[in-house]
Amino acid sequence: MADSVSVGVVGLNYWGPNLARNFDRIPRARLTWCCDLDDANLDRHRPAFGSARFTSRIEDLLSDPDLDAVIIATPVPTHAALAKQALEADKHVFVEKPLAVTSADAREVVELGEARDRIVMVDHLLVHHPGVQAVKNLIDEGTLGQIFYMYGNRQNLGIVRPDENALWSLGPHDISVMLWLAGEDPVEAAASGESYLQPGIEDVVFGRVRFGSGVIGHLHLSWLDPHKIRRMTVIGSEKMVVFDDMETERKLTVYDKGPIARADTYSEYIQVRSGDIHIPKVPTTEPLKLVCEHFIECVAERRTPLSDGWAGVRVVEVLEGMSKSLAARGEMVPLGTGATA
Ligand SMILES: NC(=O)c1ccc[n+]([C@@H]2O[C@H](COP(=O)([O-])OP(=O)(O)OC[C@H]3O[C@@H](n4cnc5c(N)ncnc54)[C@H](O)[C@@H]3O)[C@@H](O)[C@H]2O)c1
Repeated sequence: MADSVSVGVVGLNYWGPNLARNFDRIPRARLTWCCDLDDANLDRHRPAFGSARFTSRIEDLLSDPDLDAVIIATPVPTHAALAKQALEADKHVFVEKPLAVTSADAREVVELGEARDRIVMVDHLLVHHPGVQAVKNLIDEGTLGQIFYMYGNRQNLGIVRPDENALWSLGPHDISVMLWLAGEDPVEAAASGESYLQPGIEDVVFGRVRFGSGVIGHLHLSWLDPHKIRRMTVIGSEKMVVFDDMETERKLTVYDKGPIARADTYSEYIQVRSGDIHIPKVPTTEPLKLVCEHFIECVAERRTPLSDGWAGVRVVEVLEGMSKSLAARGEMVPLGTGATA
């Protein structure tokens, strides 16, 4: 078991500095490198990370025999190539979401990680969120009963991205959560949406996945909306639960609501019941801190991450399926079953 893990962060514009800050604060981690192609970004962050070396060349990180892991926070189209470069140099990798722009690329990364016996983890931030973990526990311990369906809302005004649509920018969060909560691979996906602000880049997307068990997941993703909503609702036969990340003290609400099993065959209607509403306490730890700590533990103890490379492949498969469906104006698209690990 390694005493400490040295990490280098690649990509230091908007999101990378958050990762650098978190890794820098983990006692068992050492932030030894910061890398960005843009010198202005290096200069901006030098004062904050005094113990790290700064460079514009990822090769400097890869040739450092003391560096254990590379953290990739660059634009999505660069993820797979940089991750493979790092794995070829026998570094463990932590890749921002989504893992790659195609499932074939994502799979190549994961298979290379296996061949090199290195950890590949994807930043599916929300599956590490204590609120989402609590939802998963409620499902796994049977409190919600049989899961019928779930839906995610991720809406806001901005950030309008010029290089990816709302599906690829916002969707990985909710898709990773739905796949994890459902605990099975989806069999088909569909999406419809429209590009209002930039041609060919959808600002609003309504996505749908269907699982073999009949569970469906629905997504409303938009950066063109008056409301800031970050919510996931899960409907079970016994209870219903809402995870609301915009709330501070009420992240989770469990509703004792549902159908009443029909006692006799004569009654015409299915009755419903509406009982207590329960608000469990959810720890307020920053999810990104938990994600970074988890990666360091997995590298030090050679454990499989909760959001491992195969989870990353599955999310990209759903994104691909939804993208195909977007182009086909909402047609249902069967999903491949490539990710089996
Ligand atoms: N988990 C989350 O909640 C979350 C939130 C925002 C962004 N992200 C992800 O983080 C990643 C980065 O997002 P961003 O908004 O900071 O992107 P950005 O485009 O603002 O910044 C990327 C940085 O990477 C640098 N870069 C590109 N190629 C490089 C290379 N080969 N070597 C070194 N540096 C290189 C660029 O110079 C730039 O400074 C994306 O994958 C995005 O999806 C995740």
